Amino acid sequence: MCGIVGYIGNRRAQPILFNCLARLEYRGYDSCGIAVSGGGVKLYKDTFRVDEMARTVPRLSGMAGIGHTRWATCGEPSATNAHPHCDCSGNIAVVHNGIISNFQELKLKLIAEGHNFVSETDTEVLPHLIEKYYNGSLEAAVEAALGDIKGSYAIVALKSGETKLVVARKDSPLIIGVGDQESFAASDVPAILDYTNRVIYLEEGDIGIMTNAGIKIKRNGTEVDRKEHKIPWSVEEVQKAGYEHFILKEIHEQPRVVRDTLVGYYQEAELIVDLEWMRDAGIEAMLILACGTSYHAGLVGKYIFEELLRIPVRVELASEFNYYPQTLAKTMAIVITQSGETADVLRATRRLQEVGCRVLAITNVMGSTISRLADQTIYTSAGPEISVASTKSFMAQLVTLYWLVMSYSRADVKRLDDMLMGLRQLPNKIQQVLDNKSSIKRYGKYLSGYENVFFIGRGLNYPIALEGALKLKEIAYIHAEGYAAGELKHGPFALLGRDTPVVAIVAKDDTYEAMLNNIREIKARGAPVIVLFEEEDGTVGKIADFVITVPKVDFRFSPIINTVVLQLLAYYAAKERGCPIDFPRNLAKSVTVE
Ligand code: F6R
Repeated sequence: MCGIVGYIGNRRAQPILFNCLARLEYRGYDSCGIAVSGGGVKLYKDTFRVDEMARTVPRLSGMAGIGHTRWATCGEPSATNAHPHCDCSGNIAVVHNGIISNFQELKLKLIAEGHNFVSETDTEVLPHLIEKYYNGSLEAAVEAALGDIKGSYAIVALKSGETKLVVARKDSPLIIGVGDQESFAASDVPAILDYTNRVIYLEEGDIGIMTNAGIKIKRNGTEVDRKEHKIPWSVEEVQKAGYEHFILKEIHEQPRVVRDTLVGYYQEAELIVDLEWMRDAGIEAMLILACGTSYHAGLVGKYIFEELLRIPVRVELASEFNYYPQTLAKTMAIVITQSGETADVLRATRRLQEVGCRVLAITNVMGSTISRLADQTIYTSAGPEISVASTKSFMAQLVTLYWLVMSYSRADVKRLDDMLMGLRQLPNKIQQVLDNKSSIKRYGKYLSGYENVFFIGRGLNYPIALEGALKLKEIAYIHAEGYAAGELKHGPFALLGRDTPVVAIVAKDDTYEAMLNNIREIKARGAPVIVLFEEEDGTVGKIADFVITVPKVDFRFSPIINTVVLQLLAYYAAKERGCPIDFPRNLAKSVTVE
């Protein structure tokens, strides 16, 4: 989604703003812009890429400025609708993420008062409101302007003649980076890691005043203290480190991610979160909410929670949960969101809390909105994920769910010990998949020649079929459907034929025989079948056209190994098709609109 940056200090703002904006490109955008204060406000914006824009803008000497990458929601992508937006005089400039729900009403009022609007955006009301309320203090004017608006925002405002930036947030992320006689504003940590790893997370409703001399944060007019945090991520982690794409690097980081996640949990305590209250509170059911890839992690969670905790688990798409009545008696909720900013998940969380449901969040981003909203938070240790499509953060979610259920389970010790042993072996097993990627590459290339592909699985691997299909769709632009293997005959069989390859995930568990029958049925309809299977047992190879052999693991962890294979399959298909793999069209890393 949109990215925000701001800089004030003793260096020229222009190159810093462009550098920070480039670090936010992974979020997805269709236009960008900067405004630099110095001899008036100098404004440049267009539907360019950031590097193109950086080449176009003349040298500006100002040492304070703001910048934005826009992902159009309100008005088409265009130079006029791009941020920053200005007031009538062109002296006040604002960048904004979020949605101002009452902007039409405010705009009409402002027009009646003589303000001139040029764009279709909701954001443009902000500089005009600030202009209206300005009486010598930018922060007072920003505060008054925010008092008029309904909706969500993260904003940075500047005014020519005032050596400060004013920032504010509500329901949209914004951080302040602390430097030496300089400070930074950003919607996301990677933007500023080249300059500082000291960060202040703004709370809902905070107004920050950034000057050369330091940072003040106010709430309802009174100064408040906000803790400074040290970000453990390095700049290298947000770079490609020799890989052709971020996603390839992130796929290869997964052995490390699994290892770090487990080590982190071991070190912290035996239980990563204390769930004993669940027993005390008589919790009888669990609800898992998420979107997209995180939803698929939740579906795997359902299988393992039900097996090991013996309680009913519902998994819902957060975007659907928000629109129908709920029965949530004696239910505990887990929300899964790598970004911690997905609007549907945040809304669902608030709804849950309104009805007294306790919420445990699993997220990868420290200080994200969900971590401040939820009753308890578990951070996954995936590190920064730059590619829009989730890979390593999904892996970290899966491992966290396994660990969570094992921490809480009262299953017999032998079973848990076996699982623990299996978990510990996973980094090496994943590495084996990565070391043998040349065969997967071959099948990725093969799939790249088709326009429709089915992915099927059963049990624990059904969600992985959904995830494999999602990855292929989003990065290789191939239409793909993930199906529970037994469901194909209830409709999709009508589509099967030579031009519709099927990727079947076979596990040596209770579903094995049924899966083989499903594959036979598919073969009888002429569709080519690629099977993922842990060993060549003489049967699978006879039925399938191709077999990708995966390392053998405890069947409960087969989703982890199969995930890595399907990620690589999608990657190589996308590469063969020449797709912009890290930044697929129309997609954004965090989806902050419902
Ligand atoms: C797909 C992908 C998305 C996200 C979804 C939810 O690769 O990344 O489907 O999983 O947008 O995002 P989070 O997990 O940030 O709530």
